[in-house]
Formats: sequence, C-alpha cells, structure tokens
Amino acid sequence: MKIICVETEEEMSARAASLIGGLVAEKKDAVLGLATGSTPMGTYALLIRMYLEGRLDFSKVRTVNLDEYVGLDGHHPQSYRAFMEEHFFQHINISLANTYVPNGVAEDIDHECRSYDERLERLGFCDLQLLGIGENGHIGFNEPAGHFTPECHCIELTENTIAVNSRFFDSPEEVPRLALTLGMRGILSARRLLLLAFGKKKAKAIAGACFGPVTPRVPGSVIQLHPDVTVIADREALSMAPQANQPCAPN
Ligand code: PGA
Repeated sequence: MKIICVETEEEMSARAASLIGGLVAEKKDAVLGLATGSTPMGTYALLIRMYLEGRLDFSKVRTVNLDEYVGLDGHHPQSYRAFMEEHFFQHINISLANTYVPNGVAEDIDHECRSYDERLERLGFCDLQLLGIGENGHIGFNEPAGHFTPECHCIELTENTIAVNSRFFDSPEEVPRLALTLGMRGILSARRLLLLAFGKKKAKAIAGACFGPVTPRVPGSVIQLHPDVTVIADREALSMAPQANQPCAPN
C-alpha cells in the first residue's frame, strides 16, 4: 500500500485528479469506479478543468458508481445518480449511456444487485476504483458488520451514516434507510484502488483501514488485501496512524 500524505484537501484532489487523468489519457476506454460524497468533489472539479482545457477525452470512458440510496430515483436531487451528473458527468463529454449507478427504485432490488455485478463483469471490471471512507470505516455503503458481503447487495444504513449524511437532506428523517452497494468482491476486482480522506473525523477510519486488522467491523480494512492501493490523505486523517508507519512523520 502506498500512502501519500498531503498538506491540504486541494493537494489531495490534485494528486487524485492527476492519477485518474493519467489513466484516462493512457486508456481511452478506461472503466472508472466512482464514488460520491464530499471527498471526491475537488477531484471531479479538476478532471472537469482538464477536460475543458482539452487535455482529456471521456467519450469512450465507462464509469461504475459504488452505491445508491434505495427509494430515490435518478431525478431526486440527493440521489447519487443526480450527484454524479451535477458534479461530473454533465460537464464532460461522457456518454450517459456509459455511466452506471445502481437503480435505487428498481422493482426487484435483488435482481438489480445481480445485474449490477454482471454489468461490472461485462465491462471487464474497473481499471481504478476511487473510494472515500465513512467515519465508521464504511466503503461504498458496506457498513460495519459481522461478515464481509462479496456481492452487490441492499444494506440497512447505520444510525451513524444516517446522521452524517443528513447534512444533505432537510431532516434526518428524509435520509433513506436502505441503500444498494457494490460488495467487497466488486470493489476488490478493480485493478487499482485509490482511497482519499481528509480531516480529523476520518483519522480513526483511516488508522483502522490502513493499519488495523482486516475485519468487517472496519469494512475499509479490506483494501489491505489488494495488491495495488494508493491512499492519499492529509495529516489530520493520518493522525491516528501508528507512529512507526506515519507517512507524515518528520524523518
Ligand atoms: P464523505 O463520505 O466523502 O462525504 O466524507 C465518504 C463516505 O461516506 O464514504
């Protein structure tokens, strides 16, 4: 695992955009695994800028998002489909037909989950999976649990996640209680993982994910099983990393 310690959120986004932009420049039909949330927003903004400057072409790129709320259709402003269109897709030359987000209003949710995993396989899996991490250690919406779930599945969100995500809704009651998420096999099937985190609130999750035991109680810890992981995090997010492993520690 490569851990890059940065000073600011801007630097985190710049490094991430440069990695993803480099991949898209090299492989025109790259499959990108994408994430929502506050963490990747700066990265998307920089990728949009690179596109507007004529440095990137997304016309053949395919994207697969990690998750979606159950019960919100793609037009709901808080759906992850709407988030992706607003913060990324509508500003670049990607074909929306090449962008995949689970359908949170599918009539048959189990069928939607199976189809989503099959879709990922048909695309040949992701070249790179971008990840944020929840304060409770979740990746995608794989919440802390007694076991890892390999497949795409429907999950009950924890009270912590509902509370944290309620900042995007008018009230906590409006936050959906269920979500669809890629499972661990889908996430680990990407050829490369890129985990981003900034701020003190993520320190415990980052310490657990990068340096703790691999356990479903800290779902992000599965990244330790992957052979090609880059973590870009600021000092605060890395502040609970064990001293000996502190990438920010002065030499
Ligand atoms: P955030 O969410 O980027 O908004 O902090 C990350 C996550 O919950 O996975």
